[in-house]
Amino acid sequence: MLLNIYGNYEKLSTHIADVISETIKNNPAAVLCLATGDTPRRAYQLLAKKVEEKKADFTRCTFIALDEWVGIPPENAGSCRYFLENEVFAPLNIMMSQVYLFDGMSRDLAEECKKMDNIIAANGGIDLMLAGVGMNGHIGFNEPGISPGKYAHVAELDEVTQSVGQKYFTGPVTIKQGITLGLQHILQSKKLIVIANGAKKAGIIKKVVEGEVSSVIPAGIVRKHPDGAVMIDAEAADLLEKETAL
Ligand code: PGA
Repeated sequence: MLLNIYGNYEKLSTHIADVISETIKNNPAAVLCLATGDTPRRAYQLLAKKVEEKKADFTRCTFIALDEWVGIPPENAGSCRYFLENEVFAPLNIMMSQVYLFDGMSRDLAEECKKMDNIIAANGGIDLMLAGVGMNGHIGFNEPGISPGKYAHVAELDEVTQSVGQKYFTGPVTIKQGITLGLQHILQSKKLIVIANGAKKAGIIKKVVEGEVSSVIPAGIVRKHPDGAVMIDAEAADLLEKETAL
């Protein structure tokens, strides 16, 4: 596993944006899975600048969603879909015909999962997955205790996820379940980058990078990935034994 530590959030975001744009330069038809959340927000803004300046072109990519809240409609600004449409697809000129998203409002969530598994297989797998780390060590909605053998599934959300997740919404919401790609998708993606920033992530990053690899900290799966990287800022790296900021 590669560990890259950047001096600050801006440097981290610049590097993430560069890795994504390099990926599509080398493989314009890449299958991308890019997380929602606060961590990658700045990297997407920097990517949008590259698109504007014609230094990156996403028109041939396929986009796969990582996860979605169950029962949150797409027009809710806290939904993953809303985030993706506004912070990723529109700024990066990605058309809806290129994207596959989970419908968290579906009456048949098992079918949604099956559909997503089939779409990923039919597209030859995910080339690049970019994922954040939850305060409880989750990746996507793979919550502590999740079986490593899973593909897309409906997750009962951990209490930490239910409470931390409130930050994405304008008012209090009930978020008991999520629908998510599984650890097998994450492990089988050709390249995996796990990202985190800020002092609040330092404790969980220490567990991800230096703790025992087990289902208790699902994001630790990055250490089993053949092309896995952890990219963090200096604040998130603060509790690590060895720290070398780039
Ligand atoms: P964040 O979310 O980027 O908003 O911190 C990370 C996550 O919960 O996966």
